[in-house]
Amino acid sequence: MGSTPPLSTAHTRVAVLLLLFLLAVVPWPGAAAQGGYRVMSVAGGGGQLSARLELAGDGEKAELGPDVQRLSLTASLETDSRLHVRITDAEHPRWEVPQDIIPRKAPRDIVLDASTGASPRSRVLSAATSDLTFTLHASPFRFTVSRRSTGDVLFDTSPSVFFKDRYLELTTALPAARASLYGLGEHTKRTFRLQRNDTFTLWNADIAAGNVDLNLYGSHPFYLDVRSASPAGAGNGAGAAHGVLLLNSNGMDIEYGGSYLTYRVIGGVLDFYFFAGPAPLNVVDQYTQLIGRPAPMPYWSFGFHQCRYGYKNVADLEGVVAGYAKARIPLEVMWTDIDYMDAFKDFTLDPLNFPAGPMRQFVDRLHRNGQKYVVILDPGINVNETYGTFIRGMQQDVFLKWNGTNYLGKVWPGNVYFPDFLNPRAAAFWAREISLFRRTLPVDGLWIDMNEISNFVDPPPLDALDDPPYRINNSGVRRPINNKTVPASAVHFGGVREYDAHNLYGLLEARATNAALRADTGRRPFVLSRSTFVGSGRYTAHWTGDNAATWDDLHYSINTMLSFGLFGIPMVGADICGFSGDTTEELCSRWIQLGAFYPFARDHSAIGTVRRELYLWETVARSARKALGLRYRLLPYLYTLMHEAHATGAPIARPLFFSYPKDVQTYGVDRQFLLGRGVLVSPVLEPGATAVDAYFPAGRWFSLFDYSLAVASATGKRVTLPAPADTVNVHVAGGNILPLQMPALTTSRARQTVFHLLVALAEDGSADGELFLDDGESPEMAGPRGQWSLVRFTCKAGRGGATVRSHVLHDSYGPSRKLVIGKVVFLGLRSPAPPRELAVYVNGVRTANSTGRAQGYRMSGALGAAHVAGLSLPVGKEFELKVVMS
Ligand code: NOJ
Repeated sequence: MGSTPPLSTAHTRVAVLLLLFLLAVVPWPGAAAQGGYRVMSVAGGGGQLSARLELAGDGEKAELGPDVQRLSLTASLETDSRLHVRITDAEHPRWEVPQDIIPRKAPRDIVLDASTGASPRSRVLSAATSDLTFTLHASPFRFTVSRRSTGDVLFDTSPSVFFKDRYLELTTALPAARASLYGLGEHTKRTFRLQRNDTFTLWNADIAAGNVDLNLYGSHPFYLDVRSASPAGAGNGAGAAHGVLLLNSNGMDIEYGGSYLTYRVIGGVLDFYFFAGPAPLNVVDQYTQLIGRPAPMPYWSFGFHQCRYGYKNVADLEGVVAGYAKARIPLEVMWTDIDYMDAFKDFTLDPLNFPAGPMRQFVDRLHRNGQKYVVILDPGINVNETYGTFIRGMQQDVFLKWNGTNYLGKVWPGNVYFPDFLNPRAAAFWAREISLFRRTLPVDGLWIDMNEISNFVDPPPLDALDDPPYRINNSGVRRPINNKTVPASAVHFGGVREYDAHNLYGLLEARATNAALRADTGRRPFVLSRSTFVGSGRYTAHWTGDNAATWDDLHYSINTMLSFGLFGIPMVGADICGFSGDTTEELCSRWIQLGAFYPFARDHSAIGTVRRELYLWETVARSARKALGLRYRLLPYLYTLMHEAHATGAPIARPLFFSYPKDVQTYGVDRQFLLGRGVLVSPVLEPGATAVDAYFPAGRWFSLFDYSLAVASATGKRVTLPAPADTVNVHVAGGNILPLQMPALTTSRARQTVFHLLVALAEDGSADGELFLDDGESPEMAGPRGQWSLVRFTCKAGRGGATVRSHVLHDSYGPSRKLVIGKVVFLGLRSPAPPRELAVYVNGVRTANSTGRAQGYRMSGALGAAHVAGLSLPVGKEFELKVVMS
């Protein structure tokens, strides 16, 4: 929460156009290059610089095909914080991610104070309002991107550039000692920060997340780099972050050597975007401004979800729902995997075990109880002449083509055709099938699985696309790209080759599913997709796929969750208690303690493994009640973070350096994470542990369970915290005001309870925070015509007391005027001794209960905590609450 990073457009709009430089094409002076390309001519104008490049050397890497002779390069300062550099074949059009899939027209109303400068060997593109400077070097061709304010070179390409039809290569130098990189997914990694001497392969594949270092379900050629110092010297300028996207949907390997990063891509164009930051939050803001803001998620989706592959029948589902109720563990959403289908056919119900009548009653009962229901869909449509969905798909001709006919794959139902989501008819077909199905069973959300696309057979090579000259490191052993997916030579709508569009399938299916749900329900869709690409966050949540019930995977789930926050998909979580293999009581207990703080919290497991519903073991149930109890108290905070994510791209779960970028100690922390700006989760990730070593950045940290002061330090500090079996450590940083409610078994019940404000004071006596409210299910979040409220709270405290004020920033959500704050707790008050009296003033009037009921003052170390209860402050009306101690 807290302050929103300024939108870059706001700045640039005011800038004055003052453009120096030639509009004419000028030939480049200088000698011929060694290898790679050389610049033949450059032109500049309008915040843009373009150049013609010509092959300088040749004959290298001939086995990967002939070089493209002439390239064109355009560099544009599209906003004051975004630089776009695109290199492509000057003479022949090539595949690029279509604009209708990721719209990325440069904002038209931006006027940059840009200029291009020239020296005999280089051309510079810069702007007074932009921190990024682009420099084109002539002979040999290379380019650099630097940060004007610090002089730091952010991207520095080597002259060794390859541009062939099916092989592009580009290397940038990195300052090994100062760069910390994050992103480049999707992979399960042992650390969140990328380790040197590693190769990141991007090719969507049905490879279980339990495997480290392999290409998994999604592709995100984006990284964030935070520098530990500026070039000027140690410690100087620490914490400036920038982002780099290679917008390319083809398969690729990205090799990270510490001092360099090499992209090896098997198609498309070199289409780079640089985001200036400098705060990490600015980077994700700028990134999601380009690729699309995260979809708002319904309020209910922040409740706890239970799923399993292998539920036997309706009675089994009912038993699970009852089990949660009996154990008094919150259960918001019940899920069903492919088991509900008739012979694994989408949009059907197993007539024996999940028949329509009882299923409908089951779902109606859930709804009456304020609970929700979600089912799985796979993309493959069973080839079956008696199956309505298949018949309609054939009539509408929506399936992916290969070798002149529909491509025949194999998945759970046997033979299948795959809807071609590049075809607008396929989205319409999909929407109609969803709508028809919802008439039988009004599901609340959809889970789209196997959309990499997963195929149980390996298609034989048909043409050269199936076996390109450069083999990316698919599955860690350079498997053919057709392995366990549809053939690269398959043809999509408009003649697009699967070779190029492979990584887009999950994104397009998510887009179609989101639109379908929205049209059919009129409400905010909830979609959970396994496969993702750049921009998927606009449509879907993500879970990390098939992890294993191991302690390692418990830890690695944090790395993947944090990575997806960078990718603009903040609604993310891992299968709680582990998907494959048998979990243990202790692991499951620790997993719910962590998973209760995933933005998306779902327990899911594989068929044939031990059941792991949280009520099955008493110790797990106790952990669940405690951790989920806190999650539900935090729901208003989590939902406010959803709003912030939707407005600015800010991740919900964040690495510590997002809030403490100058503290280089935070760069390697991945066994803890933040929710929003200031809630720190420090879970136990090892068997047998009863304590946890946690890092606390400078400041004060208060336990969210008992409000005690855990740490107060002027510098970052490692602390060993007790973590008995039922306990997870969660702390709030001084400086934050958290809006809380009471726990309940469903989010709708929790929403009916009174609000609390937890004011955790910083050393200087200040704190602030926000609360966003709406109905939780309108399609838009904070839309211009929507009904919503946004309230900001600020606090200033001194020796004699504290004053908290609310500022209603937006108020069109009627109920916010009736909802009340019943209690305010101030943590971190300075008082030499417990005061004799606490006097409470609301809007200047002393309240009658000033010394009465539930008022309290406690000491925690040298600091005091004042509990002010019995209040009735309407959320939607501005107030001033003053506590005076004497
Ligand atoms: C693979 C998914 O990753 C998993 O979550 C699901 O249970 C199985 N498919 C069966 O549908």
